[in-house]
Amino acid sequence: MLITVPTRWLGKVMRWMETVASTQDVAKAWVQGGAPHGAVVVADQQTQGRERWGRSWFSPPGKNLYLTAALQLPTTAPPLGTLSLLVAVAVAEALRTNFQLSVFVKWANDVVAPNGRKLAGILIEQMSNWALVGIGVNVNLVEDDLPPELQPIATSVRILAGKEVDRWEVLKAILQLLETWWERWAAGELAPLWQVLEALDWLRGKPVRVFLPDGTVIDGTAMGVTEAGELRVQLTDGSLQTLPAGDVSVRPHE
Ligand code: BTN
Repeated sequence: MLITVPTRWLGKVMRWMETVASTQDVAKAWVQGGAPHGAVVVADQQTQGRERWGRSWFSPPGKNLYLTAALQLPTTAPPLGTLSLLVAVAVAEALRTNFQLSVFVKWANDVVAPNGRKLAGILIEQMSNWALVGIGVNVNLVEDDLPPELQPIATSVRILAGKEVDRWEVLKAILQLLETWWERWAAGELAPLWQVLEALDWLRGKPVRVFLPDGTVIDGTAMGVTEAGELRVQLTDGSLQTLPAGDVSVRPHE
């Protein structure tokens, strides 16, 4: 299959694969074997698609986008915690601009509908001076395609747009936006990221419950993110905490 991508360097070298365990693993092996900066792996389906926290990413064939971009980190890169937000902003902007979808960024690496249902997730893995930027987008899934446990929390481009969309148009839009956002990030220009994120930050002002990697649970109000990409949470006693990693859910009104 030949896809011409409207980019200058990102995805100009692309491997399209029918079935893989995870595009992250294919990209990793490719970097070890000499992939160029901006090489992209895209698969039709994954048998062991990964989320963060060791969870698996639902990756059926024929409907969605699963891709990993291999990107060489600059010698003085901004904090890596800002990269997943940057990629989520690029994906959200691609869906807003090209498909007129009202989607938002949910810290730290999700793209969600106004009701909080997730339609894209970002997984960033670092390998020496490379970032393996994994992006999964639910494109043409309908509710019945989702396993019961995902039905209340996931959505897709198709569900939001009310019609089927061309997966490759979604891919092209994402690569085009990601190329521009990466160039800003690699040059240390983070001001545009904070500006766009302020408008797209789905959590801001909401009552949240954060599950930290060590099992601690924190309740508070989301107050945006720090310049290192950490979540700012105001606790019920008024104090502020900054959290570098965690899983966030919005608390129902108490
Ligand atoms: C998350 O939501 O925590 C991250 C989900 C990332 C899924 C994508 S699909 C393409 C790439 N390959 C994987 O195994 N995972 C990422």
